[in-house]
Amino acid sequence: MRKTDALLHNARSPFFAVLASMTVAACGGAPAGTDIVPSEINVASSEAAATTEDGLADAYATFKTALINDGFDQFFTMGIGFHPALSTEKVVGASGQTPSAAVTLDFTTTNVRSTIIGGPANLQLDLWFVKNVAGSGRTVRPETGDLLFKVGSFQPISGEVGSYSISKDVGTNINFDLDMVVVTRRGQSPTASRVLVGSRTLFEKRFFREKLGKTLDPVTGTLANNVETTDALVERGAQLFFNETFGGNGRTCGTCHRAERSLTIDAAFIATLPQSDPLFVFETNPALAQLEDSTLLRQRGLIRENLDGFEDPTHKFVERGIPHTLSLSLTDGRPNGIEFSPQLQLGWSGDGAPGRGTLNEFSFGAIFQHFTKTLSRRPGVDFRIPTQEELDSLEAFQMFTGRQKTNNIDNLVPREARASNGKALFFNQGQCQACHNDLASTTIDNNFDTGVRNLTPELPVDDGAAEDPGGRGQGTFNVPPLLEAADTAPLFHNNAAADIEAAVAFYVSDTFRNSPAGAGFNIVLTASQQTDLAAFLRVLNAAENVRQVRKRVDFVRTHRSSGNTSLLTAAIADTGDAINVLSAKGLNAAAVSELRDVKQTLEIAKGNADANRPSFMQHALTFLNLAKGELFSANPDNQF
Ligand code: HEC
Ligand code: HEC
Repeated sequence: MRKTDALLHNARSPFFAVLASMTVAACGGAPAGTDIVPSEINVASSEAAATTEDGLADAYATFKTALINDGFDQFFTMGIGFHPALSTEKVVGASGQTPSAAVTLDFTTTNVRSTIIGGPANLQLDLWFVKNVAGSGRTVRPETGDLLFKVGSFQPISGEVGSYSISKDVGTNINFDLDMVVVTRRGQSPTASRVLVGSRTLFEKRFFREKLGKTLDPVTGTLANNVETTDALVERGAQLFFNETFGGNGRTCGTCHRAERSLTIDAAFIATLPQSDPLFVFETNPALAQLEDSTLLRQRGLIRENLDGFEDPTHKFVERGIPHTLSLSLTDGRPNGIEFSPQLQLGWSGDGAPGRGTLNEFSFGAIFQHFTKTLSRRPGVDFRIPTQEELDSLEAFQMFTGRQKTNNIDNLVPREARASNGKALFFNQGQCQACHNDLASTTIDNNFDTGVRNLTPELPVDDGAAEDPGGRGQGTFNVPPLLEAADTAPLFHNNAAADIEAAVAFYVSDTFRNSPAGAGFNIVLTASQQTDLAAFLRVLNAAENVRQVRKRVDFVRTHRSSGNTSLLTAAIADTGDAINVLSAKGLNAAAVSELRDVKQTLEIAKGNADANRPSFMQHALTFLNLAKGELFSANPDNQF
């Protein structure tokens, strides 16, 4: 036991004695209005909620740097693609695929140019900018009253059947405050014809408005108070994510991406849910009988996805695990040089994502896929079409959760010898960083065919991403971030790896070695090296849980709110995750002990009135810092 630990250990015993007696007092029915405050504890004054913070400051800073480095502030390029819920028709080219398109706004010349490839011959098309105008009964779909600007008409590119282009000086309209670009049939308005669409992301809108000295629109609607920020847009997004059904079958985003389950769920958790949970709506509603496969969902946590189109939803589908939606600002399709849509960034493979494939559009795709009342999926009938404001808020919340900036793993030294050895293996012999570069301080933008789909031949064929114009091939899957992996098992797109050890073992298997991506690697790790590598990922995961818990605890310390009880529930769950991730393999016993103290403190605080919670939070913060200190012997950048 180190000195600090010994000191705190002594200090701790009376603390818990006090806490315990308080719980008893509370249970014993202290007179209403009586403040139960531990006398021996120095109570932190509850600071009044500060002015509204920018909950996305870190994510936006990362985005802005990348945007400017890529020169996108001068030549802003975005893709445009088919959108199952917004397109009014589906045209396909000779390959059987919907066309891809890109549009570039050249701020140096005020010229707008766009190219469409892979379409059918003899199309007559126009290019439009659309700005959604908020108002009662209005939606993200272009409607009368929205601001519409026609850029001009596409011309066929001679010698290239199915390709079209336009280049036009739009003058000051280069600064048109657009929400989306729309390709229409010639002579038709975007309110009536939408062949291809592509949306600007929230951060792009923020950037281009900032450039003109403008801010984002004010936030309206109900705000959640159980998210650890006072950023109204994020609070609005959290409200929608966990409560909004969009007039559909009763599901919300939180039905599958649960706050207390690291924004995912697995079969063990599913088994605890009552039949009335909207996850199971297809089991009782005949119109939705084939929305999911009940056995695959209940036994393996797999969800049905119609990624290759909704024309034949009961035969054309894949079955995939639910990914967590943490740290999306590091893996989302930021401006990244991929000009044509859709971007292959979101979901396990990126295909099937609507329009340009951004997070803004992906949420609408999730409503279309999962919220519908019938498999006909009629927008406005089987579910409500979201508003632009709702999609922007959902995007804000999803950019908020998890990490908003990459870590510098280089300088970290795990205290546990196995994890420290695992770190060396990860970066050298294991060659993991070749693909998983979120641990090498960059954002992720890669997809590969590592052969994972061959682990589950009994499932419907999943060909991953379709061939895209960027040349990224069929059968590939996105590289997920790894700090979040250890407590979000089962892992891989088909939930084929039961835990982090199984995922590591996969990379020394013949399945990986014989795969298109694996053929270029020869990863050799002994059984004990595999355990060490996994131990490293477990320690990092515990550290990230500590960071997330601290954020919530600090918020509860300084803000009085009825939402704090559910914030504490999430913090308790994440503390439990950190404990399990470490203790399952006997790692960092001292950190586990500190984390148990954190958990106990949070549980007692949860049983107390909100007014009394700040002092508990102060103690939880102390234990969290001790736990962090136990995880790393060197942490010069003070991460996590
Ligand atoms: C019925 C379960 C279910 C519901 C409800 C659901 N999702 Fe998902 N979500 C999934 C599955 C399965 C995937 C993987 C899809 C794929 O691979 O294309 C996914 C993937 C995602 C991803 C991609 C994450 C990543 O790392 O790339 C995001 C973002 C997302 N969902 C957001 C949402 C939002 C927003 C909602 C609500 C509008 C929602 N989801 C509702 C099951 C669900
Ligand atoms: C050739 C690129 C590549 C290399 C090398 C690589 N990975 Fe992966 N990794 C991927 C891809 C792609 C996926 C998604 C696979 C899927 O679900 O089909 C993945 C998924 C994972 C997952 C699952 C994450 C989740 O949330 O489900 C873990 C864990 C993982 N890799 C760990 C490792 C480790 C450890 C190493 C080094 C021994 C490694 N990877 C090497 C490409 C790679």
